[in-house]
Amino acid sequence: MGNKYFNPEGMDILDEPIYGGSSTGFVDFNRSRYKWDVKIYDLMNANTWFPSEVNTANEKKNFEMLSDNEKEIYKLTFAQLSFNDSAQEEYLADFRSLATNRLVKATLTLQMMQEVNHSKSYAVLLDAAGNSSEVFDLYKKDNALRRKNERIAEQFARYITGNSAQEMLLSAMASVNLEGIYFLLGFGYIYTLGDKVPGARDMIKFISRDELNTHLPLFANIFKTIQKENKIPASVIDKSYEMISEAVDIELEYGSYLIENYPIMGLSKDLIQRTVYNYANDRLRKIGLEPIFEESEKTYLQKLVEKHLNMNEVKQNFFEANVSTYAKSSIDLDDF
Ligand SMILES: [Fe+2]
Ligand SMILES: [Fe+2]
Repeated sequence: MGNKYFNPEGMDILDEPIYGGSSTGFVDFNRSRYKWDVKIYDLMNANTWFPSEVNTANEKKNFEMLSDNEKEIYKLTFAQLSFNDSAQEEYLADFRSLATNRLVKATLTLQMMQEVNHSKSYAVLLDAAGNSSEVFDLYKKDNALRRKNERIAEQFARYITGNSAQEMLLSAMASVNLEGIYFLLGFGYIYTLGDKVPGARDMIKFISRDELNTHLPLFANIFKTIQKENKIPASVIDKSYEMISEAVDIELEYGSYLIENYPIMGLSKDLIQRTVYNYANDRLRKIGLEPIFEESEKTYLQKLVEKHLNMNEVKQNFFEANVSTYAKSSIDLDDF
């Protein structure tokens, strides 16, 4: 009698779906049922970075020179982003246990490691800025921050029992929202501070590349594949639309709170709304659904985020050696 660690009676390795069935228990990178999983795994590996590569020596001095509102934006942004990565690591462990295909699971394992690396990077940065415990504990004082975290956590928990392919699909949707929506205004805010806090900006560059270049494509492919491999009723797809609408509301609620209470140059309510709507439409297209939000021209914040996704723009010597690897492996993550 086999079990999940070794089951000689398990399915042929090329037949292992994301949901259901049983694996023999082998991780064989030369036999992938999908193409995107190994491509994303390789791209994640090619992008490996360490928090110590970011120069944070002047972070405290730079932080002290920010205006009062900029300081609050900085702290409340990192307080929220650091929650996202902590939650995502834990969620991924649970989501991974719902999956059968071992190469998809292997890719999720690497993603978990990267989320832990992001948590480490916040600790390194905030330690350098001299406000680590204060920022990590802000949820105790700030109700808007606490509410955003609670709403994200509630959406993560809603379907994670994964009792069916439909529930696993909706769990994947929660992660599309995390990787593709909940980080984005935060990235934009730190890029808006930009040259004033180069340590924070460079740390966010590395993190955003992981989230947007690999984690989001991974979950978009997982979503599409679960949908393709199972009979998913229209009512479940409707729930996916509801979940992203909720994500847009979560992101805009916190985003509006920050810029209303701590206004800084370059940010407005209209700008963040157009930005989040555009992102949400893009994420819907990425998972094969129809855009449902009012679409506008690419915003200044979107362009800022996009600019920093470009690997060739990185100045650090470390990355020069890796750029070609990156370019080679950044092709076509969508096909399967
Ligand atoms: Fe992350
Ligand atoms: Fe991520």
